[in-house]
Amino acid sequence: MLITIPDVLGPDALARAQQLLASAPWEDGQASAGPQAAQVKNNQQLPPTCAQALALQTLVLGGLERHPLFFSATLPKKVFPPMFNRYGGAHNAYGDHVDNAVRYAPGSGVRTRTDISCTLFLADPASYDGGELVVQGGGVGSGAGSGEQRTKLAAGAAVLYPGTRVHRVEPVTRGVRLASFFWIESMVRSEEQRRLLFDFDLQLMRLRERDGESAEAVALTGTYHNLLRQWADT
Ligand code: NI
Repeated sequence: MLITIPDVLGPDALARAQQLLASAPWEDGQASAGPQAAQVKNNQQLPPTCAQALALQTLVLGGLERHPLFFSATLPKKVFPPMFNRYGGAHNAYGDHVDNAVRYAPGSGVRTRTDISCTLFLADPASYDGGELVVQGGGVGSGAGSGEQRTKLAAGAAVLYPGTRVHRVEPVTRGVRLASFFWIESMVRSEEQRRLLFDFDLQLMRLRERDGESAEAVALTGTYHNLLRQWADT
C-alpha cells in the first residue's frame, strides 16, 4: 500500500530547503549504490554529512515529527537520516531496483531495517517533466499483472511504500526533480499489521472529530493500544 502524507514541509520550511538545495555540492549517486542498483542508477546526491545535508535533515525530521499521519502510518522505531537527490540533465533516471534490506548510517554505525521507504518531493511538479516514482505491485510473484503505481506529488508532500517493492524513477526530460529519500524501521514489522493499525487509528481520529472523547472512543483507543502492545517490538 502507498500512503501519501501531505504538507510534511510547510511553505517556510520548503523555501528554506530549496535555498539549501540550490547551493548544495551534488555528487554522483553511484557513491551509495550497491552493485545491482549501480547498473541502473543515474542521478546525483548530496554527500550525507555536508553542511547542507545536515541542515536539510533537521528540517525534514522536524516536519515528520510534527505530522500526526507519519507516526500513525509508520510506527517508527528508527528513521534513517534523510538523504537528498537530484534528477535532471545528464543524470536523470533510476531504473528498476530494490533497496538494500539494511542500511548503515554513515559515521554512526547504526543499522536500520528498511521496512518502509519514503520519498519527500521538494520541487514544484510543474517545474519538471517526468520523474514519477513508479512502485511495482506487491502481488505474489510480482511482475505481470501485479500493477504499478505512479506518484508525483506537490513539493513538501511525501509518499510511503513498503521497502520490499521493486521501484524506479522515470527519466526527467525537462527541469530538475529534487527529493529527500530515507527509510523507516517500524516497531511493527508486518505490513499487514501496520495497515490494520493505521486504518484503525484513522477511524478513531474521525470518531473523535465527530463526537469528542466519547466512552466508545476511549474504549477503542484502549483496543488500539492493546493490539499495538501485542505487535510492537521496541
Ligand atoms: Ni530505491
